[in-house]
Amino acid sequence: MGMNCSFPHDFNRLANRRSGDFPLFLPVIQALFANMTTLRALLEKEFAARQSAFEIPADRVPLASPTYGVDEIEAALETLLSSRVTMGEKVFAFERQFAEYIGSKHAVMVNSGSSANLLAVSALMSPHMKNPLKPGDEVIVPAVTWPTTIFPLVQLGLKPVVVDADLKTFNMSPAAIEAAITPKTKMVMIVPILGNPCDMEGIQALCQKHNLLLLEDTCESLGSNFGGKKCGTFGIGGTFSFFFSHHMTTIEGGMIATNDDQFADVLRSQRAHGWTRNHSKKKEIEAQYANFDSRFLFIDTGFNFRATDLQASIGAIQLRKLPAMNEHRRELAKWILEGLAPFEKYVQLPVEQKNGFHTWFGFPFLVRSESGVKRAELMTFLESRGIETRPIVGGNLTLQPVFSQFEWGRSGSYTNANIIHENGIYFGTHPGMTKTHCEHIISAFKEFFGKQK
Ligand SMILES: Cc1ncc(COP(=O)(O)O)c(C=O)c1O
Repeated sequence: MGMNCSFPHDFNRLANRRSGDFPLFLPVIQALFANMTTLRALLEKEFAARQSAFEIPADRVPLASPTYGVDEIEAALETLLSSRVTMGEKVFAFERQFAEYIGSKHAVMVNSGSSANLLAVSALMSPHMKNPLKPGDEVIVPAVTWPTTIFPLVQLGLKPVVVDADLKTFNMSPAAIEAAITPKTKMVMIVPILGNPCDMEGIQALCQKHNLLLLEDTCESLGSNFGGKKCGTFGIGGTFSFFFSHHMTTIEGGMIATNDDQFADVLRSQRAHGWTRNHSKKKEIEAQYANFDSRFLFIDTGFNFRATDLQASIGAIQLRKLPAMNEHRRELAKWILEGLAPFEKYVQLPVEQKNGFHTWFGFPFLVRSESGVKRAELMTFLESRGIETRPIVGGNLTLQPVFSQFEWGRSGSYTNANIIHENGIYFGTHPGMTKTHCEHIISAFKEFFGKQK
């Protein structure tokens, strides 16, 4: 349907061809389309009436804002009206579109980014993989990330070995990763923080040198790239999140991209109960178990992490908008970086990875404690000016109480992660914001630092 509400030519052609066989076909299609046109008009009216829920006042900067509009609502309603709502053709079509966008052979949609991580790690441990990971194997992960980067490793019996962050990019550096490698290391799980790509040249080289798997948790960096190659396509797989506040949304949702046929098959099987249903070699496998009802053949352990056609119908529209939304994020970050440059005595501003294309999930920065500024005071002040703030992702996760619950490996000190934990702040840079919101942020900084000696 999209924005254009004129009767589509393809519909006419199809209807004319089919109307000879089915005399009622053309009138039925026309009536349906007329209803959708009416529905669209109603939606546009309703949406305009509720605009205040979607538009951000000039003096408010929330961490996120809705990026969906009439197109997504219409697509979701069409899916509901079709009655085909569970995982089906819309999910598979969206997976193909996503794979094409990201530049991978396969994409497997799931119900969240956390599920994408758990499923990816579980699939890499499946006996159906050529060289599966084994319980006790070590996996290198960053100290600064979201908990569900690390939890799947623990839940599945692997040992996370935690590495400090770089203070400029907030990512793990190749040198810090290399220092954490032991004879038990089997995989590196990297996380480009808040849209800033990791140094993929260095990381890929050391994974090759040490024969390590590379898994990218790209849940905060959809659309970012390094040297023109999209983040999430450098290793065995890349995971993505479509949570409401992310670069694009299906409200909740996630994806795993991979070029590996075997991994894709295991992901598809484990996503849905260990079934053969979406396996590319379904027929061959089923032939080996001729006395089973082939509709209920289980070849692996599994979960239910399926996404729905309802989510995919929203995702397909969002994916089309994604490049423009990411460009907008970059523009906001550029304005804010310029506007905050005079305050570098007090705050350390973020640095885009060399050769990287940053997609600015948010705008992270560090308060320079040596300047006498207190993070809590700056946060409280920004909040008082309507600017929502939060710490940088999960801070130094090793300090979280849950880390006493499981075995993990320490690699060196967490000096930088502690600085990020204690002095890090980020605020939003999302498509609902305009230059006016950036100016509001910059003037709040002027007001706060104007008071500093
Ligand atoms: C790095 C990282 N990994 C995983 C996730 C989990 O994604 P979800 O919220 O879709 O479960 C997030 C969430 O923001 C994240 O930032």
